[in-house]
Amino acid sequence: MCGIVGYIGSKQAAPFLLDGMSKLEYRGYDSAGIAVLEKGQVRVEKCVGRLDALRQKLEGNMPESVIGIGHTRWATHGRPSDRNSHPHTDSSGKFVVVHNGIIENYLALKEELIAKGVEFSSDTDTEVVAHLMADLFDGDMESTVKKVLKVIKGSYSLVFMCEAEQDKIICTKKDNPLVIGLGEGENFIASDIPAIINHTRRTFIMSDGEIATVTKDGVWVQDIEGTPINKKVFEVNWNAEAAEKGGFEHFMLKEIYEQPKAMRDTMTGRVNAEEKTITFPELNWTSEELQGINKIFIVACGTAYHAGIVGKYYLEQLARVPVEVDIASEFRYRSPLVDGNSLCIVISQSGETSDTLAALRESKRLGARTLGVTNVVGSSVAREADQVIYTYAGPEIAVASTKAYTTQLLAMLMLAIYVGRLRGTLAEEQAKELVGGLASIPEQIHKMLEDVDQIKVFAREYGSCEDAFFLGRSLDYAVALEGALKLKEISYIHAEAYAAGELKHGTLALIVSGVPVIVLATQEDVYDKTVSNLQEVKAREAVVIAIGFEGDTSLAKYADHVIYIPKTGKYHAPLLAVLPLQLLSYYAALTRGCDVDKPRNLAKSVTVE
Ligand code: F6R
Repeated sequence: MCGIVGYIGSKQAAPFLLDGMSKLEYRGYDSAGIAVLEKGQVRVEKCVGRLDALRQKLEGNMPESVIGIGHTRWATHGRPSDRNSHPHTDSSGKFVVVHNGIIENYLALKEELIAKGVEFSSDTDTEVVAHLMADLFDGDMESTVKKVLKVIKGSYSLVFMCEAEQDKIICTKKDNPLVIGLGEGENFIASDIPAIINHTRRTFIMSDGEIATVTKDGVWVQDIEGTPINKKVFEVNWNAEAAEKGGFEHFMLKEIYEQPKAMRDTMTGRVNAEEKTITFPELNWTSEELQGINKIFIVACGTAYHAGIVGKYYLEQLARVPVEVDIASEFRYRSPLVDGNSLCIVISQSGETSDTLAALRESKRLGARTLGVTNVVGSSVAREADQVIYTYAGPEIAVASTKAYTTQLLAMLMLAIYVGRLRGTLAEEQAKELVGGLASIPEQIHKMLEDVDQIKVFAREYGSCEDAFFLGRSLDYAVALEGALKLKEISYIHAEAYAAGELKHGTLALIVSGVPVIVLATQEDVYDKTVSNLQEVKAREAVVIAIGFEGDTSLAKYADHVIYIPKTGKYHAPLLAVLPLQLLSYYAALTRGCDVDKPRNLAKSVTVE
């Protein structure tokens, strides 16, 4: 988590730092701070709260310098406060650092430094790094950084400045993202591309263990032994506007409305609408190659994990391979029975989620073949997995994932069709029918988004409730899980999802008069059973909002309200059924006055365990 920026050139650093940080606030927004070298001395300005609080603090007193670093924080060690905000300095104030990640051995290091007489002024793990710089300084910043790297353990992106060498910024990373932007007579550092895209499109991505010395006129990269590293520079081809709100009130709403395009883009080059076939040129698997795979593991966190659960249904039913789905933070601690005959699929929008990456690495260590499904080109998942399927959702800025989720579902469905055909478990006719259904999805989503008034009304009517339940069977259950997560994370309404048949094994006790229960009823083979469960909650006077297909005339007899979605196949239904759930959460959050794009305590990219 946390957002990092750096600038060195001949323009004023502070405006760039503040602008860049505003693009990275999704990574953390507990506090913000910048440090510059002003009149030869380190000047740090930081405060708890959003970036706006820092802007206000700097009004009329903007630091003046052509070199600086900045940070938006998502607290791990030490509560959000002024003193725990980054940047951190050593006791002399001459060495300054910003950090994203966790220094795991910071307590031992802190004790050693305290024994030497060092006084600490924050509760963070990061502060040890600043003191270590001062303690180990040998007159040369690069060699001192290398010494620091030899003693710290953990995960980090680190950016250093010091008074002794005013013409450079040094940065390094392990398990956390860092990109360098190359300008003319100026260079940029950031955790993520949106921070620099307004200034340069020429970038490269730092890899673990690399140390970059960034000056006004160039960037020099080496490893800890001093071996020079030639980095491949690439041009970012995103539209800068793609990372802005484009007229929508929130990024989340914009991203919900971008789903038809995201779907089309993710199908491009993979779905042949005429022949009704799926290809994955990036995989190019053969049926022989797949013979050896006898088990698939899908590993992910949060929303991506929910996409994984849907993926399990797809792969098991269409490709007839046993699939286990794991929460990434649990995976490696349960000694998973992964071996050379396993395929491990990790799903991650950002491609940087720490637990997901750890699961990927563990699977590789155990000999599995690995496949990353990610939205971010060049992300750690993309680089480390044996093969990668990109979802082309475009940048997702809102913390609550929407278009990344639906493109993940789409990727999993396309993959299951592809594998099913290769393994001969999916008949050509059924595959064609499935692909035909896929081709209609973008337009169907588009149509659903044209009229959302009914959902706004429900959100107003039930937005003040404290609890809500989501029920469904089979694929509907998997979607219910995502619906509940969306509602919780942005509206703070307590929400739980249950397999509809499971409710009576305990949770039915919580269903009382007036509690909203959202029942998904799109799966034909379990439809009657779902309707029975719907009636069970109705009998306890719950308010039922059902989600079913247009043309379903039964649901309205049992439910208080019905949201109709366009008729589609059972495997396609999740792609549409989640839409009203995303919108319901969005408008409920608005009703409750919540900060939709930046929900409390959450950050977009979770790069700590
Ligand atoms: C919820 C949400 C999170 C992420 C999770 C994994 O809306 O976005 O639950 O899905 O943190 O993130 P990625 O997909 O980047 O690995």
